[in-house]
Amino acid sequence: MKRKYGAVVAAGLGLALSLSACGSDDSGGDDNNSGGKVDGKIGVILPDTESSVRWESADRPALEKAFKDAGVEYSIQNAEGDADKMAQIADSMLADGVTVLAIVNLDSASGAAIQEKAKSQGVATIDYDRLTLEGSAEYYVSFDNTVVGELQGQGLADCLGEKDANIVYLNGSPTDNNATLFSAGAHSVLDKVSTYTEVGEQAVPEWDNEEAAVIFQQLYTQADGKVDGVLAANDGLGGAAISILEANGRAGEVPVTGQDATVEGLQNVLAGTQCMTVYKSATLEANALAETAIALASGKDAETTGTTKDSESGREVPSILLDPVSITKDNVATVIDDGGQKLEDVCTADFADACKAAGLS
Ligand code: BGC
Repeated sequence: MKRKYGAVVAAGLGLALSLSACGSDDSGGDDNNSGGKVDGKIGVILPDTESSVRWESADRPALEKAFKDAGVEYSIQNAEGDADKMAQIADSMLADGVTVLAIVNLDSASGAAIQEKAKSQGVATIDYDRLTLEGSAEYYVSFDNTVVGELQGQGLADCLGEKDANIVYLNGSPTDNNATLFSAGAHSVLDKVSTYTEVGEQAVPEWDNEEAAVIFQQLYTQADGKVDGVLAANDGLGGAAISILEANGRAGEVPVTGQDATVEGLQNVLAGTQCMTVYKSATLEANALAETAIALASGKDAETTGTTKDSESGREVPSILLDPVSITKDNVATVIDDGGQKLEDVCTADFADACKAAGLS
């Protein structure tokens, strides 16, 4: 049985508020807070700073706020794209006495090794955003990533209409289980449209934006420039495709998808060079992680929305999966109203007219 997450959030928020009422919460530094009054200490390891701006610009502040509001000690660090560094950070967090460790893995094998080590020391782990295949996390906190892909596929189809169209797929990192789900979700929508033809598909190692531009240029050349739509898995990859389309005089003419509702992605949507993005509230995801981690640290069961099957081990991982939101020119305001981005960051001088036209000012 799936439980409704709204009720979970409300109940959890009550817990967070009542917990924070009894502790000072601002005695920590940038990534460390030692003023908590809830038993336990939560460690979070973010993956990198380059595959998406979200990790440092959205997730870190949202996580800091969630932990501070709950009055729990925490440490948030970033592995900067280096799996060895992630393992070292995990070791130091374990040595430092974290009671719950949450990771955004860089690949499943290195993530699973970290989780095994934590487990052997009696430390519970949580998969944050990316499922670690063959891992041992107690919980998985994320968005419904297949739905993310479906929204991207539907968004591209809406922008293309029913005409004949050649589509290039620029997928995320082959080591990220989410990328597999995004692509499967998008294909489940687009493959059904008989007038669409796939003319190229490639995964971008580590979601590297520069490499994405090189890969997209190759796919574009191979297709003789006969590309009518681009399914790009996030805003960074979408931006890379747009830069190549621009160089070929075709930006704005060829719809491109994205994900993360980054400042750049939203600006591209407003400017008409990107057809859509997907908004995944960092606040909701961070709050869900804080709730789950605090439950674990207190030896309680966390509230879940269901389970997610690990496609390698077959294990059903208890999960909290949130709902992603499709964003087009018509509802960029949704992201801003929700606090996902600030109006002044999106509507800079260069985008003033586009913002005005979209009713943002
Ligand atoms: C996340 C996306 C992000 C990508 C690159 C995925 O696992 O779900 O939001 O854009 O990684 O960091």
